[in-house]
Amino acid sequence: MKSMNPLAQQLNETLQKESPDVYAMLSNLGKAIYFPKEGILSQSAEAKTKASKFNATIGIATEGGKPMHLKLIQDTLSAYNPKDIYEYAPPAGKPELRSAWRAKMFKDNPSLEGVSFGNPIVTNALTHGLSIVADLFADEGDAVVIPNKNWENYELTFGVRRGAEIVEYPLYNESMQFNSAGLREALLAQQGKGKAIVLLNFPNNPTGYTPGVRECDEIIAAIREAAEAGIHVVAVTDDAYFGLFFEDSVQESMFSKLAALHPRVLAVKVDGATKEEYVWGFRVGFITYASESQATLAALEQKTLGIIRSTISSGPHPSQTFVLHALQSPDFEAQKAEKFDIMKGRANRVKSLLDSGRYGDTWEYYPFNSGYFMCLKLTKVSAEDVRQHLLNDYGIGTIALGETDLRVAFSCIEEEYLEELFDTIHKAVTEVSAR
Ligand SMILES: Cc1ncc(COP(=O)(O)O)c(C=O)c1O
Repeated sequence: MKSMNPLAQQLNETLQKESPDVYAMLSNLGKAIYFPKEGILSQSAEAKTKASKFNATIGIATEGGKPMHLKLIQDTLSAYNPKDIYEYAPPAGKPELRSAWRAKMFKDNPSLEGVSFGNPIVTNALTHGLSIVADLFADEGDAVVIPNKNWENYELTFGVRRGAEIVEYPLYNESMQFNSAGLREALLAQQGKGKAIVLLNFPNNPTGYTPGVRECDEIIAAIREAAEAGIHVVAVTDDAYFGLFFEDSVQESMFSKLAALHPRVLAVKVDGATKEEYVWGFRVGFITYASESQATLAALEQKTLGIIRSTISSGPHPSQTFVLHALQSPDFEAQKAEKFDIMKGRANRVKSLLDSGRYGDTWEYYPFNSGYFMCLKLTKVSAEDVRQHLLNDYGIGTIALGETDLRVAFSCIEEEYLEELFDTIHKAVTEVSAR
């Protein structure tokens, strides 16, 4: 085997000393990775502050003291300074954006007060944050514990790319609340492996479910119990749809409660601007670690930068600038609130239609209270048959998941059309069952 790079070794020794449990969670890649301290990036960062005469360090081109650029591009982006668009962003992201996002985390999650966690590191949106978690912590055969209603990409990120074993538990229990007993059981079953990665995604894709306070307490208790039983738990919150809470669920990320839960629990928050700020194509997200130890946080950041440097090198600069601009704007809160009201209006309309009795017993629906989606449970017909019928005969697109579930993204249907949408789905289900 190739010997470990001295910088990687240093990071590993820091983790072994400061947080041996976190060290034990690392994958082989997570152990081997490091960020080159004396490489091109750090030499050029040093030059940026000290080279007052000529800075001939990094691979960009300059002209008149500014990044070289084409007028035709700058003409369409003229609100922005070329230095905030064309230069490489640092691998960890624009420093001002990282602090602005950290400030936003505190504002949105008052229970983070007093919690020790690192500076958010910019990712190429949430998928990339999740793949960093997979790279650093998942080895062949490691368990990734997720509910049976989940975002399909976890399978590729953790299963296919990293060879992890996906362990599913039913999302809902018999009273159609979050099945924390199922989570507990799935976790405790990993005792033989001594390690598990748990993904918590609320608001949930595809169901639009976020648990309430009591259910969250149960989730925390289940993870604590697993840790006490000797299992190293990487507890990841996928907060993609954060903030879109329309009813009386919890309104904060579970990251705060996971942060100081137990030495054998490493809390990782994966979040971003994608869905929250309606900038899907910008590709701006964040990965944030919690630890009492600053040295551990620094080592995890270095390892994360190693993954970033070796895959995408750094995230796109323009979109980081755009998101930073939004976060700093005095109009940000008001404009977000406007969109929240629209989304909430749609969710409420869907619920009132479903609860109106007009659809009889054609279907059941899974409890939803947040996010972009809801799921119908078709008890008498196949979801895929209904999806095809809706698409081919009515020009309506939905997502079939498994045998029974039909996911409807109310996020992209104007409130006034929801009645026609659900009436047509009802008609299609009735027609398919009469075949
Ligand atoms: C639960 C969940 N996590 C992560 C993502 C990925 O987000 P991004 O587009 O920022 O990579 C999605 C997008 O569909 C999602 O539904």
